[in-house]
Amino acid sequence: MNHFELREGELACEGVPLSRIAAAVGTPVYVYSTATLERHFTIFRDAMRATGHGEPLIAYAVKANPNLSVLKTLGALGAGADTVSEGEVRRALAAGIAPERIVFSGAGKTDEELAFAIDAGVSEINIESEPEMERLAKIAAARNARPTVAFRVNPDVAAGGHAKIATGKSDNKFGVSMTEAERLYAIASNNANLRPVGVACHIGSQITDLAPLESAFGKMRALVERLRAEGLSVERLDLGGGLAAPYFNHPEPPQPADLAAVIARALKGLDVQLAFEPGRVIAANAGVLVSRVIHVHERPEGPRFLVLDAAMNDLIRPAMYEAFHDILPVKPNPEGGEPLTYDVVGPICETGDTFARERDLPPLKAGDLVAFLSAGAYGASMSSEYNSRPLVPEVLVRGDQFAVVRPRPTYEAMLAREPLAPWL
Ligand code: LLP
Repeated sequence: MNHFELREGELACEGVPLSRIAAAVGTPVYVYSTATLERHFTIFRDAMRATGHGEPLIAYAVKANPNLSVLKTLGALGAGADTVSEGEVRRALAAGIAPERIVFSGAGKTDEELAFAIDAGVSEINIESEPEMERLAKIAAARNARPTVAFRVNPDVAAGGHAKIATGKSDNKFGVSMTEAERLYAIASNNANLRPVGVACHIGSQITDLAPLESAFGKMRALVERLRAEGLSVERLDLGGGLAAPYFNHPEPPQPADLAAVIARALKGLDVQLAFEPGRVIAANAGVLVSRVIHVHERPEGPRFLVLDAAMNDLIRPAMYEAFHDILPVKPNPEGGEPLTYDVVGPICETGDTFARERDLPPLKAGDLVAFLSAGAYGASMSSEYNSRPLVPEVLVRGDQFAVVRPRPTYEAMLAREPLAPWL
C-alpha cells in the first residue's frame, strides 16, 4: 500500500496534488511520501521482530534513496544504515544515524574509506575479501583501534531476477566463500586489531521467490554453527536486503511477513542477533517521478511516441534493466476515452532512452502530467546530468505540506562547477 491516490479526480501524494508540486517546482520531479516510507519501515521492522530473535537492526540500504530528508525520516523511527561508500557513511551520520547502527559493505573499499569508517566508529565493517581484511587490520593497528567487523559471505545461491543485480553466486564479485569465511574468521579473531562479531550475506535485489533466500539463510546458519563449534564468537547474522517491491507487472511479491516466516523456520533455535539491509522494499513505492508530455509524435506508419520531459538520466531503470514502471496520468480524463498504444520516450539522443514500448495509456496530449510509479528506490539515486540536463529535483511530502529536499540546479550553477583549465 502507498499514499499516492486519486483525490478529487487527480493523483495526489498524501494531501498534496502532484499538479501543485509540478507547478511550484517544475518537471521532471521526484515526489516522496513520508507516510509510505514510515509505513514500509514499520511493517518491515515489526515483521522481523516477530522472528523471535530479539530487536533486529534494520539498516536501510542508503543507495536505494540517499536523500538526507529520507534518511532522517527513517532514522527517526530507529533505522540504521547500510552503506557502501564514505559518501553514504557521511550521509547517514549527517542524518543523525548513530555509528553503532551503520553497516559498511562494498567489494572495494579504499584505505581512506576504511580509515574513515574506523574513526567514525561504524559498528559493522563488512569484510568482503582477504586482502581487504589485511588492509583493514593494518589501518586499524596504525590507529591503535579495534573495529567491529563481520564477513560478507557469498553463499553461492542464484537469487533469480535480473542478472545485473544478482550478487550471491560464486562468480559474482561479492563476499568471501564459505570456506574462506571459516579460515578468515579464525584469523581475524586472533588479530588484536579486529573484532569479528558476525557474518553477513546479500544475494540480490528484487527477489520475488523466497526459496533462494531460504537456501542462503540455511547455509549461513550452518556457517554460524561451524564457527561456534570452533570456539569462535558469533553474535550477529546480517541477512542483507533484496525483498522485491511490487511494480504492478507481475503477481504480488512476497511480503515482509512471508520473509519473516522463512527466517523463523531457517534459524529456529539459533541464538543470534539479526541485522537486515532492506532498500527497495522501503523506498520504491514511496516515490513517483512526475513528468510532462512535451508532445505526441505519431508517424503515419507508427509507432506513436509519447515524448516526455523526463529521460533516462532521471530514471535509468528501464534502459538499464528493462524494468517496468507503471505510468499513470496525473489528471485522468473523467470521460475516459479508449486507451492508445504508446512508445514512451525521453528527449535524450539514444534509442535506449525509452521508458516503455507498446504501453496502453489513456489518450494524452502536450502539457499533460504523468507519474512513473514505484520510482522511490534507485530512481533519483541513479540519476545523472547526461546531455547536460539539470539533476532532477526531489520533493518530500508530509500530510498537506511539501518541501523541496534537493533543488534543481540552475544552469549557471552547473557551469560554475567546472573551472576552466588555466591555459584556456
Ligand atoms: N545490501 C547490499 C550489500 C546491497 O548491495 C544492496 C543492493 C542492498 C542491501 C539493498 O537491496 P534491496 O533491498 O534494495 O534490494 N540499481 C538496481 C538495484 C541494485 C541493488 C544493489 N544492491 C535497480 O534499480 O534495480
